[in-house]
Amino acid sequence: MSKHYHIAVVGATGAVGVEMFRVLERRAFPVASIRAFGSKRSAGKSALFHDEKIPVTELAPESFRGIDLALFSAGTAVAREFAPIARDAGAIVIDNSSTFRMEPEVPLVIPEINGDDVKLHRGIIANPNCTTAVALMAIYPLHRVFHVQRVFAASYQAVSGSGARAIAELEEQVRAAAESQPARAEVYPHPIAFNVLPQVDAFLESGYTKEEMKMQNEGRRIMHHPEFRASVTCVRVPVYRAHSVAPG
Ligand SMILES: NC(=O)c1ccc[n+]([C@@H]2O[C@H](COP(=O)([O-])OP(=O)(O)OC[C@H]3O[C@@H](n4cnc5c(N)ncnc54)[C@H](OP(=O)(O)O)[C@@H]3O)[C@@H](O)[C@H]2O)c1
Repeated sequence: MSKHYHIAVVGATGAVGVEMFRVLERRAFPVASIRAFGSKRSAGKSALFHDEKIPVTELAPESFRGIDLALFSAGTAVAREFAPIARDAGAIVIDNSSTFRMEPEVPLVIPEINGDDVKLHRGIIANPNCTTAVALMAIYPLHRVFHVQRVFAASYQAVSGSGARAIAELEEQVRAAAESQPARAEVYPHPIAFNVLPQVDAFLESGYTKEEMKMQNEGRRIMHHPEFRASVTCVRVPVYRAHSVAPG
């Protein structure tokens, strides 16, 4: 019988965490057991896996005992504190946040492009930025044939990229607009409903935002192409899910 894995999902109630359960289920991943972790706020909630309700418990240092794979999608602070704990407890960590993406000893992987890099892991594997992943899936095949030196691109990024609260905020603002009520904005500095926000993440001195630099910085590592350059404009659009990227 093939090996089945003991899995922990950290950030199980988030926009990404919920999808992780769905993907593991849809792919019939060989799961021996699965555990769901969140913050104190999530205690009492549950995650759904094959129609079974998995209770969400508060993450703690001892959460990783007996775990083979720890899938993290709980942001930078949680990854920084708990990924090394999970690794030292014997789990392989796959982290969705940006925490480890630029660390040389941590493979940054898109399986279809540099899947072999996984073999170099020392307990932690990083997952790229969402816009980067979408764009490189198209850029890499072109790179293999033509040697891509530089791309110009514009992104149209859904609110799902800002997490579950942002999805709820757009829903609420659409409802308010339909009832001619004023929009309340908390996740974004301005209403996102019926609007576009030409800023994703903080601006750097260069005038690009952090998000806009990820395609270049992460692309260099993933494609093993240290001279790769990307000039990107990232825009948040009032779409619930799925980012788009177009040549600029
Ligand atoms: N959304 C995307 O498309 C996307 C794509 C690529 C990468 N990422 C990255 O993935 C990570 C999660 O994103 P998301 O969109 O899923 O965010 P989210 O919807 O805000 O969910 C965050 C999750 O982290 C949990 N969490 C927060 N603080 C915690 C703590 N102290 N201990 C344990 N769990 C904690 C939350 O649990 P509570 O509900 O209990 O707070 C929730 O389950 C971020 O680093 C993000 O940058 C997101």
